Amino acid sequence: MHNQTITIISGTNRANSVSLQVAKIYLGLLKKRGFEAQILDLSGLPNDFTQSALYDNEGENAQFNHFREIMANSDKFVFIVPEYNGSFPGVLKAFIDGLKFPQTFKDKKGALVGVSAGVLGANLALSHLTDIFNYCGMNILALKPKLSGIDKVLEEDRINNACTWSY
Ligand SMILES: Cc1cc2nc3c(=O)[nH]c(=O)nc-3n(C[C@H](O)[C@H](O)[C@H](O)COP(=O)(O)O)c2cc1C
Repeated sequence: MHNQTITIISGTNRANSVSLQVAKIYLGLLKKRGFEAQILDLSGLPNDFTQSALYDNEGENAQFNHFREIMANSDKFVFIVPEYNGSFPGVLKAFIDGLKFPQTFKDKKGALVGVSAGVLGANLALSHLTDIFNYCGMNILALKPKLSGIDKVLEEDRINNACTWSY
């Protein structure tokens, strides 16, 4: 099924993140296999979106709505998830909280990739995110690569995966 819309989410709004670099590598790997995909970089979120686009202000922020529509119109997702304080970035949860529920994720498929400077490869973050997405009705692929020690394995346009684990 090569005509489905696949969106790769870089899961932090930190400028010049490693997650975005990994997202670009993932996009290249998909393209090599004949799949079209697009990157959604959370660093492009409006700075004030937790105030201007959530809860009573749902649908009110045009810039955030653009992100919402891309998410709602995607068939499959790949989340690149950096480890922040033993979990995933708070901005990613706030982003998820601002999306259309339940249609954004229900009965769709998602893949998760963990990225960390330390040894865990965001393992706990991926488990927690799996719970959240399952709650939202999305099926999460069991294979969840954990790219630990990312600064040691990241090369310009590839990952030297000697130190990574995926179980
Ligand atoms: C707020 C913050 C918290 C972090 N906490 C952890 C952590 O708990 N464990 C870890 O291995 N790395 C931690 N890191 C390092 C990131 O995993 C590292 O920066 C990696 O490159 C992925 O994040 P990035 O996509 O923002 O670059 C943290 C980084 C930030 C900015």
